[in-house]
This record gives sequence, C-alpha cells and structure tokens, in this order.
Amino acid sequence: MVIVAVLAAGRGTRMKSSLPKVLHPLGGRSLVGWVLHQVRSLQPQRQFVIIGYGGDAVRAALADQPQLEFVEQREQLGTGHAVQQLLPYLKDYEGHLLVLNGDVPLLRGQTLAHLLEVHQKHNNAATILTAQIPNPQGYGRVICDSQNILKQIIEDRDCTTAQKQNRRINAGVYCFHWPQLAQVLPHLQANNDQQEYYLTDAVNALSPVMAVDVEDYEEILGVNDRVQLAAAYQVLQNRIKKAWMQAGVTLIDPASTTIEDTVELAADVVIEPQTHLRGQTRIGSGSLIGPGTLIENSVIGERVTVRYAVISDSEIGNDTQVGPFVHIRQQSVVADHCRIGNFVELKKAQLGSDTKASHLAYLGDATLGDRVNIGAGTITANYDGVHKHPTHIGSGTKTGANSVLVAPVTLGENVTVAAGSTVTEDVPDNALVIARCRQVVKPNWQPKA
Ligand code: UD1
Ligand code: MG
Repeated sequence: MVIVAVLAAGRGTRMKSSLPKVLHPLGGRSLVGWVLHQVRSLQPQRQFVIIGYGGDAVRAALADQPQLEFVEQREQLGTGHAVQQLLPYLKDYEGHLLVLNGDVPLLRGQTLAHLLEVHQKHNNAATILTAQIPNPQGYGRVICDSQNILKQIIEDRDCTTAQKQNRRINAGVYCFHWPQLAQVLPHLQANNDQQEYYLTDAVNALSPVMAVDVEDYEEILGVNDRVQLAAAYQVLQNRIKKAWMQAGVTLIDPASTTIEDTVELAADVVIEPQTHLRGQTRIGSGSLIGPGTLIENSVIGERVTVRYAVISDSEIGNDTQVGPFVHIRQQSVVADHCRIGNFVELKKAQLGSDTKASHLAYLGDATLGDRVNIGAGTITANYDGVHKHPTHIGSGTKTGANSVLVAPVTLGENVTVAAGSTVTEDVPDNALVIARCRQVVKPNWQPKA
C-alpha cells in the first residue's frame, strides 16, 4: 500500500512563462499529467497533488481525475515545505509515501514499482531514485557508500567544485516510510543558497536511506526550462516511434514525424515524412499517411491514402483516397472507396461510399449518399450570415462544375446539376436542374464609342 504525492506548486521561474511549469504541454499531456499517468499502475491508496502557483489552473487541468486530492501550499518555500503541507492529512498514516516532482514526466511505471519494492524489502527510512547522467548540471548530487547507502544529497548550487564532478544525481523521486519522515519534516531549516526548505534535507536527516539507480537515465530528466522541455519531447517521441516501428509500422523519416502516445496504428501502416498524428487517432492496416499531413482525433480505415491533408475529429472509411491539399474537420464521415481532393474542404459532412469530390469543393453541413460525384468548384452555401443550414444530396447525383447549392436544400437521387447552377430549391429524383441564365450571343457586336 502506498500513498503518492506529486509536487506541483512551484512557479517554474526558469520557464519564463505565465503558465505554471507543470502545465506546460509535452505531446498530448501536461508535465504533471505525465507524472500522474505513470503513477496509475501502482494503484495508490490516495493521490495528493500539492498546488500553489497557478493552483486553480492546475486543479482545472486535472479536473477529469476525481481520485486526486489537492493540497494547497500558499507560499512556495521549497520542496520540503511542500511535503510539510501533508502533515495534517496523514496524521495516523503508518505506511509509505512516494513523492514525485511534478516536472519529471518521462518516468516509467515499472521504475516506480521497482523503487517501491526495494524500499519495502530493505525497510529503509527512505529510498531515492538516482541516475548517472552525462551532464548533471542543475541536479542535486548524491553521494553514497559502496552499498548504495546515502551519505548526502547536495543541491547543485550548494556544491563545491569537487562535489559538482559527481555525476550521480537525485531524480526527485522518493519513497519514504511516512512516520519517520513526519518526524523530521517539522525541523527543516532554510539555511541554503535559495533560503528554501529542501526535501533533500529531510532525506539527509533520515537513516538508512538507499539510492537506486535508474537503468535508462533519460527517464528522470527534469524539465526546468524550455530547452529541457524540448529535450524531453525528443525522448518521448523516440520512445513512441521506436515502439511503433517494432510493432510493424514503417516510418520513412522518423525525425520529421511526431506521434502522440494516445495514437493507435495497425501493422503495415506507412507514415511518410512531415506527418503528425495526435489525440485519439487510429489508423488501419495498409494505409499510407503523408507526406505533409496532420491528423487529430480521427479514425482512418484500412488501405487509405492521405497526402498533404489536415484531418480533425473525423472518420475515413476503407480504400478511400484523400488529398493532396484537403481539410476534413468537425465530425465529417467519409465512407469506403471515396476520393476527396485536390483542394477540398469537408466540414460536418457525411459521404456515402464510392462518392467523389475530386477538385476544388466546399461541403459543409452536408449529407451525401453513395456514388455521388461532386463537380469541380461545387460549394454548399451553408451559412446565411446568421445560421448554418443543411444540404442533402441523394445517391447517384452529379453536380456540374461551379455549382452553388444554397442551403437548406435537398437534391434527390440521380439528379444532374448543370454546370454553373445556383440551386436554391429542392430537386426531385432523376431530374436535371439548370439554374443559370441562358447564354446570350450578340454577333458582330462592338462597344459603343
Ligand atoms: C529538485 C531537487 C534536486 C533534484 C531535482 C530533480 C530539491 C531541493 N532539489 O531540484 O535535488 O535533482 O529536483 O529534478 O528538492 N515545488 C513545489 N513547491 C515549492 C517548490 C517546488 O511544489 O515550494 C515543486 C515544483 O513545482 C516542481 C518540484 O517541486 O515540480 C521540483 O521543484 P524544482 O524547483 O524544479 O526543483 P529542482 O531545482 O529541479
Ligand atoms: Mg526541477
């Protein structure tokens, strides 16, 4: 049994941002969102989030996680002071407390489970996660004996030049036996370079404390500024992309591709360069996506081709071709064997199967049946300046080039719309509609002088 506390009250001065540091986005989740995501696998008994700077924003951003208990740290007087805020909440608690910094987003659940296991097995007062890293600058340095028993943690800014050479660092992830921590917390002193109450001083006051090195040091990279934010993003992307490649997805140019961890790809999907897949996106087997494509919260079927397109909150059926230069958005649904693009926009449009809008069209608030052919330059005029109106187009209907369909309007099945028509009234099944001026030709005409 374990209780978790995530420290998320700091401003993050080094980010130079009005947004609290822990809310900075990192590929689909906030920094603190990642930490909480990784903690879930431990099934903690209770989960506290210490909030302070921008506390309301942090609370709001995590409102979808009702299990969280928010504890306010009114003044941000350091990481030790942050944990002191838990004292009234955990008065009779006899178990272990896992404390994580809210700015360490790349940790893996299994690493946390291992830390907890070592902690409990050895009956330590505290067990801390450490790493040997190539550039330890900015991190607290950890000095241990040969048995990994901690001698001291010293903050970077309080280190001597010799101590700075030590590459073993404090990851900011700690397991404490709570009754022992609760005894030392009230006695912390702020006699350091930052005049803060350091959690690391509480660790120094406990015994025995064991250090556990993480295997992959990239897991513990902390985010304190935007350079580290970008570095963390790269680590995350490399992990996600490597996993998809191992699962049978071809990434032609991984470096120019981004994939959020919420995306699901089938085997034999091929992703071309400059493609970005975000949110709750799923792509079926055999589909070719990109180059130059952004897909968000959308479901793409099997054997679909999508080139130079932006697709959001929509669905594309099997064997459909999309692009180049297509924008599909707002709950559009395209069925199987369709062709959309070049230069076509769909907004809240439903298209039946074998329907084609191959060139230069806008279909908004429109429902199309099967085998519809939309001529080049067809526009659904769905907006009267105040309200949006629907257009219905029956199966087998063809619109001529440069048709304007003024909504609300319904075209029946197998209708033919003459090129250049402006259709303002409903058209029955099997009709030809011509809604344009008859051509007038005046022979041998010259402008009057
Ligand atoms: C801390 C550790 C350092 C470690 C590093 C790992 C201390 C004193 N130092 O340094 O040894 O190597 O993390 O990344 O703990 N926070 C609060 N309230 C506060 C201050 C901070 O909740 O009053 C939160 C912040 O929001 C942040 C976390 O605690 O999520 C860590 O604070 P930060 O200022 O980033 O500490 P570091 O300097 O990185
Ligand atoms: Mg930090």
